Amino acid sequence: MVKICIIGTGYVGLVTGACFAEVGHHVICVDNDEKKVAMLKAGGIPIYEPGLEAIVGRNVATGRLRFTCDITDGVTNSEVIFIAVPTPPRDDGSVDMRYVEKVARTIAETMTEYRIVVDKSTVPVKTGEKVAQTIKRYNKHKAEFDVVSNPEFLREGCAVDDLLHPDRVVIGVTGERPVAKMEAIYEPFQAPIIVTDINSAELIKHACNSFLALKISYANALSAICEASGANIDDVVHGMGLDKRIGRAFLNAGLGYGGSCFPKDISAFTHIADALGYDFALLKEVQHINAQQVERFLKKIHDTLWIVQDKTIGVLGLAFKPDTDYVRLAPAFEVIRPLLKEGAKIQVYDPQAMEKAKEVLPDITYCADAYAAATGVDALVICTEWDEFRNLNLEKLKKVMGHPTVFDGRNIFNPQLMADLGFTYKSIGR
Ligand code: UDX
Repeated sequence: MVKICIIGTGYVGLVTGACFAEVGHHVICVDNDEKKVAMLKAGGIPIYEPGLEAIVGRNVATGRLRFTCDITDGVTNSEVIFIAVPTPPRDDGSVDMRYVEKVARTIAETMTEYRIVVDKSTVPVKTGEKVAQTIKRYNKHKAEFDVVSNPEFLREGCAVDDLLHPDRVVIGVTGERPVAKMEAIYEPFQAPIIVTDINSAELIKHACNSFLALKISYANALSAICEASGANIDDVVHGMGLDKRIGRAFLNAGLGYGGSCFPKDISAFTHIADALGYDFALLKEVQHINAQQVERFLKKIHDTLWIVQDKTIGVLGLAFKPDTDYVRLAPAFEVIRPLLKEGAKIQVYDPQAMEKAKEVLPDITYCADAYAAATGVDALVICTEWDEFRNLNLEKLKKVMGHPTVFDGRNIFNPQLMADLGFTYKSIGR
């Protein structure tokens, strides 16, 4: 059992803390948001993440997991302190590191004996050096410490499973001293552990996210070639994916990537590379292709509907991907906003994300289910591939629509079946 403190109870911090407690460690989660801490103490969960509520409840009950606003409590009563605060983008796309710096300073002023300070947030390469310098500068009680980089690879929607069953654990260190304790934390997860220098560990995280985004953009670029040539993207990526060197994952063409990580991290990585004197043009093109996917999709809508003003358009799916209520930088909004601007009436349905969406887009119609969102529409647009949509009764759907036209931004239906049922059906790369 290791005594752990996690500073920052956002997505990564909360799921990490809960899963560390689940495997037997003692975890104190610290956050400066009093409302959030009060909610967690009362058994509430601020995010939608399958399985999380049960794990938090169970571990709070055993006393292995607790929440506080008091950072001194966390730093004093733990051996390893994880920094899991936000690293948001600045206006120019570079990373705002002020929260990490502030936490490092507070830890330095608070700790009185040896501590391992672990950076869990996604950060630019060389952040570990800066954190170590900061702690050294503000080290009030001259306590010994080590800085470690331990990037997190969890995905929203399956974060608990990703954390409990990681593909690998990356531990970046400058010396041997913190390694045994870090290994003890991860031993119960039975995953391969790789120990590297700090810069390499930090780079692994950005390298992975960028490579996955690159795979998506590659498939999306191919989808444009498929449309122009009459080939079928499903068959092309199936044929590619069976090559073990390539793999089928992250080759789904569609409206492109969104969410809290890829857009921010790819942008950050191009800035980091620029700052290091390397023009990562490849990644800039990945971003460009991603933006083009929505534009190409909107063009399909315009080519078919011609004028969208005063037309009613139903939208299925607002979340940036299924099984999450996360809507920031969701492609659905890139589709909805221009249509709204042109005077279309938009009626939407999403199984989980409507509450969050209302905060961003209050002036559209939110419907009780998919059929309600499709009722009377001139066209239906699919933006997120929820299973619930795959399982719709298509005949019933067609009956309620004003015109049976479907623009499928996630390729969830079989084009032949849709044609046989009498739909005008446009998808991506098929
Ligand atoms: C991602 C990484 O997967 C994770 O390792 C990292 O820690 C955080 O960023 P996440 O953003 O939660 O996780 O979602 P992910 O499942 O990776 O999907 C990202 C986006 O790519 C979504 O918008 C999804 O719809 C899109 N996507 C994914 C595609 O368009 N095609 C694909 O084939 C796969």
